[in-house]
Amino acid sequence: MIVLGIESSCDETSVAVLKDGTVLSNLISSQDFHINFGGVVPELSSRAHIQIISSLVKEALAKAGCSLDDIDVIGATAGPGLIGALLVGYTFARGLAYAKKKIFVPVNHIEGHIFSGFLMEVKPIFPLLVLAVSGGHTLLLLAKSFTEIIKLGSTVDDAAGEAFDKVAKMIGLGYPGGPKIQAAAENGNNRKIQFPIADMKGKYDFSFSGVKTSVLRYIQSAFGAPKTTLIPEEQLNDIAASFQFAVVRALIDKCELALKNFEVASLSLVGGVAANEELRKSFFQLGAKYKKKVVIPKLEYCGDNAAMIAFRAQSLILAGEKFSIESDAFPNFSSKYFINASL
Ligand SMILES: Nc1ncnc2c1ncn2[C@@H]1O[C@H](COP(=O)(O)OP(=O)(O)OP(=O)(O)O)[C@@H](O)[C@H]1O
Ligand SMILES: [Mg+2]
Repeated sequence: MIVLGIESSCDETSVAVLKDGTVLSNLISSQDFHINFGGVVPELSSRAHIQIISSLVKEALAKAGCSLDDIDVIGATAGPGLIGALLVGYTFARGLAYAKKKIFVPVNHIEGHIFSGFLMEVKPIFPLLVLAVSGGHTLLLLAKSFTEIIKLGSTVDDAAGEAFDKVAKMIGLGYPGGPKIQAAAENGNNRKIQFPIADMKGKYDFSFSGVKTSVLRYIQSAFGAPKTTLIPEEQLNDIAASFQFAVVRALIDKCELALKNFEVASLSLVGGVAANEELRKSFFQLGAKYKKKVVIPKLEYCGDNAAMIAFRAQSLILAGEKFSIESDAFPNFSSKYFINASL
């Protein structure tokens, strides 16, 4: 089965070709100009997707050595994401599928992230504990199969990536926050400041607004109002390292609790924040402690990419799900395969 995947939910336009689960091409065009605005500007994002999508599809097909006629299935992100940005990739893909009479699969972006570990050579095994950490989501899930995903917990406020981005802005590191905090943290002392880890009522839930406020209070009391340029580099690095330590601890603690209470065959860490080196290291250590197989996608598959969208489309087709191009599945902001468990 050859699948063409298209992703345009935020500030990455991506097109991929997958043959029987193997990635033949996965092109990602990032809209770096948002840096000038301190965050993604939705209208500009949509326009940039439109400008590049057609040539990116051609390029991805050429790199894969395929033509549109060789494609069996076209999968595109149908949400969640920025509506205008989503519409570009979704309608482009649906139009192609319509014209070429291909099976069209609307893909939930988060489901794409959840199963992105399957793009790796060594695959996860069900039942699978998934920690999905991105700019908009923080989810702890127990996937029993490609179509049965038990939601154990989620964030009650900020997503982990959002907390990285907001704290980076607060301390003057700028956007995108995650990689910048990670870089600053490499030269800092992660035990210098004790930022709190929220103790949640929902056993597997997360909260990051407390740690974020606590960073704000700290810089206010140590350096006056957040005139971020006044923070000396050494202290800035310590704040970044201590903040990163608190977030990683909070995430790993909940995964460990889930491992104690559920029998799983493997663990997977996915989403943009899965690029974080400290988190990757701690997640591997957790797997080793519980003697479980750990699969973390390579960096190319952590952030937004179309290979994960194509894989998700393929997994749904192989699971026997049926799709009609006439039925409008747009937008798709909540996964129909999530089972809310009372824990
Ligand atoms: N090295 C890193 N450390 C921590 N966070 C990181 C790192 N690299 C990227 N991130 C964070 O990952 C997030 C982007 O991930 P992703 O592209 O998956 O999110 P999104 O697509 O915006 O949100 P969602 O997938 O929930 O819709 C940003 O918040 C970014 O700061
Ligand atoms: Mg994403």
